[in-house]
Amino acid sequence: MRLTLFTLACALIDLGASQQIWDIWQTTWNRTRLFKNLETRPPLQFVTPGAIGSGHIVVSDNVTYQDIVGFGGSLTDSSARLLDDLKTKNSTNYWSLLNYLFSAKEAANAAGLSYLRVPLGASDFAAKAYSYDDINGDTCLKEFDITKAPSYVFSVLLDIISVNQAVKVHLVPWSPPAWMKTGGTMNGGMLKPTMINLYASYLIKSLQGFKRQGIDAYAISIQNEPQYSNPTYPTSTLTAFQEGQIGVALKSLMKANGFPKVKLIGYEHNWSDATVYPVQLMKAAGDAFDGVSFHCYAGSVSQQGDFSKLYPKKEIYFTECSGVRGTDWWNDIKWFMDNVFFGAIENNAKAALMWNLALDAKGEPKYPGTGSCAGPGCRGIVTINANGTWTANQEFYAMAHLSKATIPRDMGGPSGRRIKVAVGGSAGWGLRVGAFVTGRLDSSDWRRYSLVVMNWNDSVGGRNPVDVKTTILFRGLQANYTFPVGLTTLWWYAPPLGASTTIESRGAQSVLQLNQ
Ligand SMILES: *[C@@H]1O[C@H](CO)[C@@H](O)[C@H](O)[C@H]1NC(C)=O
Ligand SMILES: *[C@@H]1O[C@H](CO)[C@@H](O)[C@H](O)[C@H]1NC(C)=O
Ligand SMILES: *[C@@H]1O[C@H](CO)[C@@H](O)[C@H](O)[C@H]1NC(C)=O
Ligand SMILES: *[C@@H]1O[C@H](CO)[C@@H](O)[C@H](O)[C@H]1NC(C)=O
Ligand SMILES: *[C@@H]1O[C@H](CO)[C@@H](O)[C@H](O)[C@H]1NC(C)=O
Ligand SMILES: *[C@@H]1O[C@H](CO)[C@@H](O)[C@H](O)[C@H]1NC(C)=O
Ligand SMILES: *[C@@H]1O[C@H](CO)[C@@H](O)[C@H](O)[C@H]1NC(C)=O
Repeated sequence: MRLTLFTLACALIDLGASQQIWDIWQTTWNRTRLFKNLETRPPLQFVTPGAIGSGHIVVSDNVTYQDIVGFGGSLTDSSARLLDDLKTKNSTNYWSLLNYLFSAKEAANAAGLSYLRVPLGASDFAAKAYSYDDINGDTCLKEFDITKAPSYVFSVLLDIISVNQAVKVHLVPWSPPAWMKTGGTMNGGMLKPTMINLYASYLIKSLQGFKRQGIDAYAISIQNEPQYSNPTYPTSTLTAFQEGQIGVALKSLMKANGFPKVKLIGYEHNWSDATVYPVQLMKAAGDAFDGVSFHCYAGSVSQQGDFSKLYPKKEIYFTECSGVRGTDWWNDIKWFMDNVFFGAIENNAKAALMWNLALDAKGEPKYPGTGSCAGPGCRGIVTINANGTWTANQEFYAMAHLSKATIPRDMGGPSGRRIKVAVGGSAGWGLRVGAFVTGRLDSSDWRRYSLVVMNWNDSVGGRNPVDVKTTILFRGLQANYTFPVGLTTLWWYAPPLGASTTIESRGAQSVLQLNQ
C-alpha cells in the first residue's frame, strides 16, 4: 500500500516536472497535409534552454489580451439550402461535414468552429426578396412572421448547434422590409426617417422569433454594410446617426424583453472607414453598443486597430471577407492568415469569419439577377459538390488552425485568450505566430497553451520552401520544432501562473486524462 502510493507520487511529479507537446495539427503549402493531426510520440519536451534556433518564439503568458469567441462564416439561405439538399441526398456526408466543421472535441479530427452570422431576411445569397413582414403599412407588425424564412435555415442551424452547443449566432439584416424604405424595395435605397422606432421593434421581434425557433442569439447588428446601396440585391444605407438612434431604441427593448446580454454590434462594414462611421456611431450612441464589426473589402486591418485604440473598451468582431473562385490556394491562405486570422485577431477582434459557409462549385445559388460576387464568383468555406460530396476550401484550413487553438478545454468552459508572443532568430521573419491560453472551469487545473505558426518563407512565386528550425521559449524552458512552409497548430499544458507545487499532482492527472 505504502509502496503503491510512493510509486504513484513519483510518476505524478515526473509528469508534472515539465511541459510537453503531444499534439500538432498541420497544413502544408503543397497540400500533402491538410489540417492533419500528427501525434508526437514521445512528446516534445520543454527542457533547459540551449542555443536558439533560426526561428525563436518567446511566449509571455503574463501579458494577456482579448478573449476569443470563435471562427466561422455566414449561414446564408443559400448555404443552408445546399446543406439541407446534402442532408437529403447523402445524410452520412452531411453529418460528417457538420462534425468536421463544428465538433469541438479536442481529440476530434475537426475544427470546432463556433461563430455563425445569420442574415435576417434576404441577402445576396437568398432565393428571393423577403423580410419577416412584407405587408405594406403594417405599423403594428401584426403580420410579423419569422417562418417567412425558409425552414431549412432553422433546421440546419439546429443541426449545427446539436454538434457544438457553444456555437454563437450573430443576427444581421441586409435590408429593412421594403415598405419601411424610401424606394419601396429591399434592393437598395434607405430607411425612411419616420421608421426608426418601428424598425427597432422589427429587430426585437426577430430576436424573439429566433428564440421561438430554439435559437438564442449571441449578437445582433442593425444593418449589414450601411454605406452601400445596390439595386440588384437587398442592401440599404443608414447614417451613423440613424444607426445610433435605432441602437438606443433596440437596446432598451432588449433590456425590457429578456435579451439584456445579447450583444448589440454596430457598423458591419469596410476597414477603410474605421475611424469615420464607427467613431460617429460611438459619439452618437456609444453606450447602446457593445462593439463594432469590420469587413475586408476596402482599407487595411491596421485601420481596425486605429478604431480599437480610440475605443479600447468596445468589442471588435471581424465578420466578413470572401474568397474568389479560381485563385491560388496557398497565396490565399497567406493573405487570409496575414490579414484576417492573424491580422484581425492581433487588432483585437474576438471572432474572425469568412462569408458563405457553403456554396456550390460555381459559387451559387445567388439572389436572382444580382450583380454581387460577379466575375469568377465567390467561394464558400466549403463546396457542396453536385454528386453529394463536399470539399473544404482554403478558407476552412486558414480558420481551422486558429479555431482548434482556441476551442474550450472544458465543455461549457472558456475558450482561448490571446497572449503575448514575440518572434526572433535569423529566419524569424519567415514565421507569423499567434499565441493563446485556454482557461479551465476549475481554476487550479492546468491550462492549455497554444501556438499557431505560419511559415511563409517560400520564395513567393518561385516556390522554394524553406523549413525553419525553431526554438520555443516558455517560462524559462525551451522546446524545439521544425516548421515546414504552411500552417501548424500545437499545444501543451501548464499549471496556472504562480501556482505552488501542490498543483502538480492535479496537473499530472489532467495530462493523463488528456492523452488517453
Ligand atoms: C534545440 O535546438 C537547439 C539549437 O539548435 C539545441 O542547442 C538544443 O540542444 C535543442 N534541444 C533539443 C531538446 O533538441
Ligand atoms: C512578463 O514576464 C517576463 C519574463 O519573465 C518579464 O521580463 C516581463 O517583465 C513580464 N511582464 C509583465 C508585464 O509582467
Ligand atoms: C454517400 O457518399 C459516400 C461517399 O462520399 C458513399 O460511399 C455513399 O454510398 C453515399 N451514400 C448515399 C446514400 O448515396
Ligand atoms: C466597401 O465594401 C463594399 C462591398 O460591400 C464595396 O462595394 C465598397 O466599394 C467598399 N467601400 C469603399 C469605401 O471602398
Ligand atoms: C464528386 O465530385 C467532386 C468534385 O467534382 C470530385 O472531386 C469527386 O471525386 C466526386 N466523387 C465521387 C464519389 O464521384
Ligand atoms: C528563407 O530563409 C532562409 C534562411 O534564413 C534564407 O536563406 C532564404 O533567403 C529565405 N527565403 C527567401 C525566399 O527569402
Ligand atoms: C510538400 O511540402 C513539404 C513542406 O515544404 C515538403 O517537405 C514535401 O517534400 C513536399 N512534398 C511534395 C510531394 O511536394
